[in-house]
Amino acid sequence: MEIVVSGIRSTGCLHLGNYFGAVQNFLKMQEDSNYHCFFFIADFHSLTTHPKPDDFRKNTNEVLVDYLACGLNPEKVVLYAQSDIPEIPELYLLLNMLAYKGELERVASFKDKVRKNEENVNAGLLTYPVLMAADILIHRAHKVPVGKDQVQHLEMARNFGNRFNHLYGNDFFPEPYPFTFTGTPITVPGLDGSGKMGKSDGNGIYLRDEPEVIRKKVMKAVTDSGPTVPNSEKPDAIKNIFQLLTLVSDASTVAHFEEAYNNCNIRYGDLKKQLAEDIILFNAPIKERIDGIIRDTDYQQMVLKLGAEKSRASASATLKEVRKIIGIE
Ligand code: ADP
Ligand code: TRP
Repeated sequence: MEIVVSGIRSTGCLHLGNYFGAVQNFLKMQEDSNYHCFFFIADFHSLTTHPKPDDFRKNTNEVLVDYLACGLNPEKVVLYAQSDIPEIPELYLLLNMLAYKGELERVASFKDKVRKNEENVNAGLLTYPVLMAADILIHRAHKVPVGKDQVQHLEMARNFGNRFNHLYGNDFFPEPYPFTFTGTPITVPGLDGSGKMGKSDGNGIYLRDEPEVIRKKVMKAVTDSGPTVPNSEKPDAIKNIFQLLTLVSDASTVAHFEEAYNNCNIRYGDLKKQLAEDIILFNAPIKERIDGIIRDTDYQQMVLKLGAEKSRASASATLKEVRKIIGIE
């Protein structure tokens, strides 16, 4: 049996990047009896940007409701909020002793955050990969389903785990590797010509967006004047539209627009309309379930309580061993 851990930062509700980069894999893994899955809401991680208390709670809840509406089943997987597991911050503290300032400063996501937000370069941001490593190592995980942007963080988790093993002369922590059913972690693009759809990039198409909002977002997608030479390579902005189409539409629809592109008679207006309608169709059942779960706060509380109990049982067993290995007893 392999241990699987993954989480999503609770900075708001989930978008298509979260779904196709991460959640889609969670759903498949939960049905596979080879995996024991721990999926969580990374609410401590959201504190780097200092949300107000009401927003902190609201965001945690939104991710929980979206997880459940996507089909995560709290009876098949351990579903919990990171902040309900005090063993995680303790392991984070211990791992911080093995994490070096230089290597943390070289992390691409850190450099990116520094560039975008010079006035809030806090230590939590710098040690973000250490907290993430604690999330993973606390259950001694083997596989971590994530999007491409998290791959470097996982490399660091392996480094910290290996360093611990080496320092204390054991093989206590297994090496956690990224996992997706397609074989490689993906990046879901934004429609603003940028490489990645993201909450912080302000270009998200959310699972709970109203149809009208989705139509507006998609119709604004960056395009060009169209190909003039048959079978020419697509510029990035057009590739992005096609990539999203491949995720939400059926193969014949994609083939139809590919052919039109290759024959130079594609109409981007039609392509975007089709994409918008297919996203709306894709979201519809999820959105319907969100509307059902959102009001059932008792159910939400019950899920978090059950998840916290199961997660803490696993986390405290690991931490007990870690303390013993270090000599804290
Ligand atoms: P955001 O980038 O919107 O802040 P998160 O950083 O919370 O989203 O990402 C949560 C999970 O969703 C991670 O596993 C991440 O890799 C995945 N993810 C987020 N955006 C994308 C994307 N555009 N493509 C693929 N995966 C993504
Ligand atoms: N860093 C991830 C993100 O931005 C969230 C995360 C926190 C995570 N801890 C994790 C993902 C552990 C996988 C495993 O969404």
